[in-house]
Amino acid sequence: MEAAIARAADILEAGGSAVEAAVEACVILEDDPVFNAGTGAVYRTDGSVLLDASLQTSDGRMGFVIAMRDTPNPIRVAADLLDEEINGLAGDGARTWANSKGHPKAAVEGRPPRAGVGDTVGVIARDSTGALACATSTGGTSYRPAGRVGDVPLPGSGFWAEHGLAVAATGVGEVITRSLLSYRVHDRALSTESTLESAMRWGIEELIDEGVSVGLISLASEGEGRGHSNTDMPWAAWSG
Ligand code: GLY
Repeated sequence: MEAAIARAADILEAGGSAVEAAVEACVILEDDPVFNAGTGAVYRTDGSVLLDASLQTSDGRMGFVIAMRDTPNPIRVAADLLDEEINGLAGDGARTWANSKGHPKAAVEGRPPRAGVGDTVGVIARDSTGALACATSTGGTSYRPAGRVGDVPLPGSGFWAEHGLAVAATGVGEVITRSLLSYRVHDRALSTESTLESAMRWGIEELIDEGVSVGLISLASEGEGRGHSNTDMPWAAWSG
């Protein structure tokens, strides 16, 4: 995480955009096999490695990919979708579109599933204009079939960014999706003027079943970023 934060910090200090910072930090996490995203993604039950990623900006743009094969950095494909007419792509169609845009095609090694492997990755960055970008990436949750869709590429579930606030979630994607967790935490923070910490705490305590691992990160157009989880998921924040 330190390497990812350092990369984002370099970009932002050089005047780069929130999108660039979030994507490049996410790429570092995707390339690190310790995380369940990109290179370290868990196998599906049929042995396949299928990747999901999403990117949303506070100026109303969005891109997401679902169940992509042979794409070590799916966040870059999500980023390329930001300025397209379509928001999202899935499966073979996503890979075909990525080919047309020149995204490298390479087998992703992945790793066997095991209980306790979660740790999807998420990055929220804010640039000098106050713009926010929210990037998430995952190989899914262990012991899930090919074709299963988790929270990461679903708007409002694994991510939400608008009105000067971005929230990203991870953990057991089914529970996050059923509770529309990121959107509802976002709404809670803005509609009740809660602190980010208390809105995230509310989301996990009120919307998530006991014993289900979930973590959240959030960042507004002012103030410091925060993270909160009901397990040992790591998070970190930096402000220049
Ligand atoms: N949170 C990752 C997943 O459930 O796919």
